[in-house]
Order: sequence, then structure tokens, then C-alpha cells
Amino acid sequence: MTKIGTDVHAAASILRSGGLVGLPTETVYGLAALVSLPEAVARVFRAKGRPTDHPLIVHVAGVDDLDRFARDVPPAARVLAARHWPGPLTILLRRSDAVADVVTGGRDTVALRAPAHPLAHALLAELGDGVVAPSANRFGRVSPTSAADVVAELGDAVDLVLDGGPCTVGIESTIVDLSGGVPRLLRAGQVTLAELREDLPDAEAAGDAAEPVAPGMLAAHYAPDARVVVLDPAVAPGEVARVVAPHVRDGRSVAVLAPDLIPGLLPPVEQLDAAGGPAAYARVLYARLREADRRGVDVLVVVPPPGDGIGAAVRDRLRRAAAGSAGTG
Ligand code: TXA
Ligand code: MG
Repeated sequence: MTKIGTDVHAAASILRSGGLVGLPTETVYGLAALVSLPEAVARVFRAKGRPTDHPLIVHVAGVDDLDRFARDVPPAARVLAARHWPGPLTILLRRSDAVADVVTGGRDTVALRAPAHPLAHALLAELGDGVVAPSANRFGRVSPTSAADVVAELGDAVDLVLDGGPCTVGIESTIVDLSGGVPRLLRAGQVTLAELREDLPDAEAAGDAAEPVAPGMLAAHYAPDARVVVLDPAVAPGEVARVVAPHVRDGRSVAVLAPDLIPGLLPPVEQLDAAGGPAAYARVLYARLREADRRGVDVLVVVPPPGDGIGAAVRDRLRRAAAGSAGTG
């Protein structure tokens, strides 16, 4: 039976003996294994149903671990880590010998991040080692943002879930590639390209966000069961109603997710709440996608948040969720 709790010592001893722990972070929950136990790392791939060539992020206690898990660390990495760690920024570097092939799918690079959640930090401090932790969802599905979500996703495949409450950021970390050449943003998140450019003026965007720049950044990802239809952030309320109408007419269960209540939308159409601005939208996004599935919603019509920064990161996730559910237009 899967246990949910807050016992960091128990979590540490499970990890040391090769078990898997649900790890609360400020972004999403991870599925953790000790980085120095290749057998345990292999279990993570099996539990998620994730292809073994999709590399894992190594979570560390802080800046002092950079040279332990990476080599040829550029000064820029130290600057970014000093500024953003602990926090939702993952830095791609050349890997050191402390990182086994199974962690990186044989690549010469390693993704490092120091999470900000106090339970994650306490666990890493007690272990004195790093942990791999992909998001604790089955491959291609919505990332979990609560301990209960982790159990719903993985059940008995996880030995203990540390319950750190709901995640405060709600979407995955920003990934920046400093492994060579020009710094590149590989995944959008709460830490924006504009912020990265304050320290690294030459940092580049990943290009077309539809291109899978990091393995695992497939177009189809973050997908709920419901078909997801993403509209323009500036769409007029009347247009939302026009998109919804034919689905209702055809007898489908329809829900709308939007920054504000859409006037004139009547039951049976359900309105899911993502009010309070782009950061609040990010915080509840994955919980709302899960809620839509729990309610048996067939079609989820989404009005994304506006703006650069985390608003853009939310739109990136929604685009992938729509691709995963074949819900375009
Ligand atoms: O916020 C987060 O980053 C969460 C929490 C748990 O920390 N973790 C997370 O892990 O989102 P995951 O495995 O679901 O996504 C990690 C992404 C994947 O797209 C993976 O391909 C990429 O990072 N990645 C990891 N190591 C890489 C490497 N060596 N080269 C290129 N991409 C890498
Ligand atoms: Mg993931």
C-alpha cells in the first residue's frame, strides 16, 4: 500500500535502499530515486513508462553540488545558480563521472536543479547525495501538483509520497542549456528568458516551441483524457460561446477553463476557475486538467492567460496538451 506522509528520515532510508519517493517541489511533484543507484534509476523509467533515452533531471541541495555532478562548469552557470537556486531553474551542463549513463540516456550532458521546497531541501541535505526526479506522472500525462495526484498516477509503483501540500508554481522548471555554445532556453517556466538575459545577454529562445528541443519536449505532452481546444487569449466571450455550442448540441460534456468567468455560458457547460492572473493560472492549471477528467469532460475549451513570462509558459503547456488530445481549433 502506498503511504503518504511527511517523514523525511523514512524517505531517506527508502531512497538509500533503492526505493522510489514522491518528492514535493515548488514546480510539480517528482518521482525520486538516488542518483548513485542505477537500479533505482531504472525503476523510475519503468514506473513512468518513460523511454530510457529521455534523460532525467538531477536534483541537488545547492550551488556547491555543481562541480560534483558537472564538469567544465562555466561562470555563467554559477551566476545563474547563485541567483535562482533554490528555485525553478534547471541548468544543462556537461556531466561528471558521478552521473551514470542510465540517468542521461547516455548523453554527455546532465540537467541540474536545486528545488526550493523545504521538504525536498531537508531530504537532499539528509541524503548528502543527489536524486533524479522526473515529474511523477505516467509518460505523456499531466504532471502532479499534489501528493494525492502522485498516488493517482503511480499507485504502488511509489514507496512513499512526501506530502508537501499543493505546488506553488504549478508548472515545470525553466530549462537553460549552458553545455556549450550560446545559452539556450529549452523549456519555458516561471524564470523567463528576459530574466535570464539580465545575466546572459546572449541567451536565445529555443526557436519554434513546437520543435522537440529537449527529448521529452514532444509536441504531444501534458495530455488529459478530455480533448483540449485552445483559443486565443484575447478571444471575445461571444466567440467562446460559438465554439462551445456545436459540442453541446452533439451531446458532449463541455467545460471551459478561462482567466475569468465567461458571461452567457449556461449549464450544462461547466466553468473551471483559473482567476487571479497568469501566476495563479499556472498554479491551478494541472489540477483543472485533472478535474476535467474526473468529471468526465469530453471537450475542454481553454482561454489561456495573456502576457509574457509565466503566461507564455502556460500557453506552451496548453499547446502540447491540445496536441496530445488532437484538439486543435
Ligand atoms: O520542475 C521540474 O523540472 C520537475 C520537478 C520534479 O523538478 N521535473 C521535471 O522532470 O519536469 P521531467 O523529467 O518531467 O522533465 C525534464 C526535462 C525533459 O524534457 C528532459 O528531456 C529534459 O528535461 N532533460 C533532462 N536531462 C537532459 C539532458 N541531459 N539533455 C537534454 N534534455 C534533458
Ligand atoms: Mg515531465
